[in-house]
Amino acid sequence: MASISSQNRVPEVSVFLFVCLICLLFSFSHVVLAQSSPVFACDVVSNPSLASLGFCNTSLGASDRVVDLVKRLTLQEKILFLVNNAGSVSRLGIPKYEWWSEALHGVSYVGPGTRFSSVVAGATSFPQVILTAASFNTSLFEAIGKVVSTEARAMYNVGLAGLTYWSPNINIFRDPRWGRGQETPGEDPLLSSKYGSGYVRGLQQRDDGNADGLKVAACCKHYTAYDVDNWKGVDRYHFNAVVTKQDMDDTFQPPFKSCVVDGNVASVMCSYNKVNGIPTCADPDLLSGVIRGEWKLNGYIVTDCDSIDVLYNSQHYTKTPEEAAAKSILAGVDLNCGSFLGQHTEAAVKAGLVNESAIDKAVSNNFATLMRLGFFDGDPRKQLYGKLGPKDVCSAENQELAREAARQGIVLLKNTAGSLPLSPTAIKNLAVIGPNSNVTKTMIGNYEGKLLYFIRFPSDYFRCSSNQSVKRYDSGTPCKYTTPLQGLAASVATTYLPGCSNVACGTAQVADAQKMAAAADATVLVMGADQSIEAESRDRVSILLPGQQQLLITAVANASTGPVILVIMSGGGMDVSFAKTNDKITSILWVGYPGEAGGAAIADIIFGSYNPSGRLPMTWYPQSYVDNVPMTNMNMRPDPSSGYPGRTYRFYTGETVYSFGDGLSYSQFSHKLIQAPRLVSVPLEESHVCYSSECKSVAASDQTCQNLNFDMHLRIKNSGTMSGSHTVFLFSAPPSVHNSPQKHLVGFEKIFLHAQTDRHVIFKVDVCKDLSVVDELGSRKVALGKHVLHIGSLKHSFTVRI
Ligand SMILES: *[C@@H]1O[C@H](CO)[C@@H](O)[C@H](O)[C@H]1NC(C)=O
Ligand SMILES: *[C@@H]1O[C@H](CO)[C@@H](O)[C@H](O)[C@H]1NC(C)=O
Ligand SMILES: *[C@@H]1O[C@H](CO)[C@@H](O)[C@H](O)[C@H]1NC(C)=O
Ligand SMILES: *[C@@H]1O[C@H](CO)[C@@H](O)[C@H](O)[C@H]1NC(C)=O
Ligand SMILES: *[C@@H]1O[C@H](CO)[C@@H](O)[C@H](O)[C@H]1NC(C)=O
Ligand SMILES: *[C@@H]1O[C@H](CO)[C@@H](O)[C@H](O)[C@H]1NC(C)=O
Repeated sequence: MASISSQNRVPEVSVFLFVCLICLLFSFSHVVLAQSSPVFACDVVSNPSLASLGFCNTSLGASDRVVDLVKRLTLQEKILFLVNNAGSVSRLGIPKYEWWSEALHGVSYVGPGTRFSSVVAGATSFPQVILTAASFNTSLFEAIGKVVSTEARAMYNVGLAGLTYWSPNINIFRDPRWGRGQETPGEDPLLSSKYGSGYVRGLQQRDDGNADGLKVAACCKHYTAYDVDNWKGVDRYHFNAVVTKQDMDDTFQPPFKSCVVDGNVASVMCSYNKVNGIPTCADPDLLSGVIRGEWKLNGYIVTDCDSIDVLYNSQHYTKTPEEAAAKSILAGVDLNCGSFLGQHTEAAVKAGLVNESAIDKAVSNNFATLMRLGFFDGDPRKQLYGKLGPKDVCSAENQELAREAARQGIVLLKNTAGSLPLSPTAIKNLAVIGPNSNVTKTMIGNYEGKLLYFIRFPSDYFRCSSNQSVKRYDSGTPCKYTTPLQGLAASVATTYLPGCSNVACGTAQVADAQKMAAAADATVLVMGADQSIEAESRDRVSILLPGQQQLLITAVANASTGPVILVIMSGGGMDVSFAKTNDKITSILWVGYPGEAGGAAIADIIFGSYNPSGRLPMTWYPQSYVDNVPMTNMNMRPDPSSGYPGRTYRFYTGETVYSFGDGLSYSQFSHKLIQAPRLVSVPLEESHVCYSSECKSVAASDQTCQNLNFDMHLRIKNSGTMSGSHTVFLFSAPPSVHNSPQKHLVGFEKIFLHAQTDRHVIFKVDVCKDLSVVDELGSRKVALGKHVLHIGSLKHSFTVRI
């Protein structure tokens, strides 16, 4: 969300402190005013005259109600509904509504639409998304969304939250340095699509079968090709992402398409950056053309916070602010996070740069979304989710799901025989060392947007603060925390040393740490990063462990007598080659930013009460990769002429520290092919060009290329002694035409298997859809020739011919 470049950090902080002081003064005098009822329109009980207004009449269809509402408004009133802090029209019983709420991995206070108070002091905080994605469990994605929307509705009912959530973030994690990679489901378009559509369904789907209604409205962001925040002086407000048509259509766009088409999301957010020279929020092809035209968005398009201001003031894309307002609205923007459209739209209309009909269209999309949410249906406490309240937030079940999600995501990267799991009865003394051993907020990941927001929108800050309690400015949003140390200490006796004063680890306490490890039966080192290393507005330059962390780990490992378990808490991958090859380091776990219950989940895995099943959703590169590849090069494909190595497991063939899909279990799983075809023929008409001349591929959209399906039957066996879950990946390596990926994920299925049991798994493959690749011009093609399907170490080749 909104931010400011880090060069301004010092003034930011002083402004923030000043603002905080004012806020405190306000808060203490107004605590009693804290709102406790939901905001809604058409309150016919308090104001019976509203009942005769068409837009308040629930027996009319939603689109008729929207038309009725819009025709009652003046231009000035309509403009109030183009911005996140929407205005009120008291003569029509419409109160102010704040559009900006967020729920990336739990209801959060990033955005002024949501706050915490003594009534609801925190909400369930799930793992940061990159770890949830590592579970590769699509039902988990949806289950989390469902809990989050329940908590959101519960908070809305007591006046603490909105109905419109600008989550999830489904940008492709293209480069390991990206500070916001942690917020995303990783580098693979299929996984990102499954995550996005699953989480959106969980947020939006109602329990009463009303398919057009919304429990809460989700928003897929940041559209599109957005994944540079601030790297070596290049920031997102100025960055022009130069993207080929091919990369656009097979890497950057698929998650957004799936979010709209499969997830039926209610909103898409355009990003700050330019794509091929045009700011995304002013690009009619990307917005009206693709999102609304091709994908048929049922909902609204919102700008990232202050994007229009950015395209005018920072990118100088238009000569006047009126032109910037007009261009954005004409491109397809319906709502502006920020105040720019509020300030400049009227003048733009008066100057003839945009017609009032375009404003009508924009506000109609916004109103239609609120209609679907029941905002115009009177008191929400009398509607489907009206009984939800504070008791439904942070419930025991919800918090258990946060712990379960972390368990399902944690990835075991290395495990020497005899290391993990540790026996809680055999270990009498566990040394817990490292700057992330006893952290709380670090486990939540990126929440910094809050501070930056108040700097950027001080007027909003004052407006909100006069009516809100100071709780809002606490970072204590989770229900509670279990730190790694607390989690481990619940099972065994521990000794603890941070080892460094923070993750930057300027000077490690090597001697004390060695002494502690030498005296213990086993050592757990909890290391990695936090938001001071990778965050919104903060990309990395180094992907090594910060400061003296490596020195500390190596020294501790050398001094230890028992197993040494390295736990890496981070969003992005780390070059931990030194640990991978060090025999004294017997296990490595990656735990992402594991959320409020992270410490409990880590202990569940370390002591074997849960069998690890997470798999890496992104490639872990060596430091040499980032030394050689500019973050600003958007190309996914390698370029042999310049030595550019390409990106992600689909295109990069160089050395990795760990690879996409890596992850061990305490059990062993094997795959056996039972049945799959060797040959698929695409039936062609005589008139088809490929009938008479040589073709390397046929168009996936071709009439003849429909419903060419086959089933792939596999037997998956757990030959270990522990029950556990296992993700079966189906990759396809297509023939090398059209610069296609070396392999790509076609499907995945997570299954649970008791020890010594097996199961039949069927992958349904649609040749034209699943095995197709995107050609140089952005069209989907099925390559003719030999395709190789990979499942684990199993390979099955089959031929597509005409
Ligand atoms: C609501 O609309 C229905 C259908 O047009 C109409 O019959 C009814 O009278 C309206 N209600 C009010 C209060 O105007
Ligand atoms: C406004 O509407 C008029 C009449 O329909 C049309 O000719 C004109 O092109 C429109 N202007 C803009 C900026 O869309
Ligand atoms: C661990 O952190 C908790 C919560 O921040 C704190 O209360 C506790 O004292 C810390 N434990 C140790 C051993 O330092
Ligand atoms: C505070 O809330 C009251 C009642 O909800 C409202 O009338 C008033 O305008 C609000 N003040 C500000 C500054 O928003
Ligand atoms: C490891 O410890 C031994 C003594 O126990 C010492 O000789 C050696 O230098 C140490 N190696 C490292 C890399 O610290
Ligand atoms: C997927 O997640 C759901 C929800 O937590 C869980 O019930 C299920 O067991 C998980 N599936 C597997 C195979 O682990």
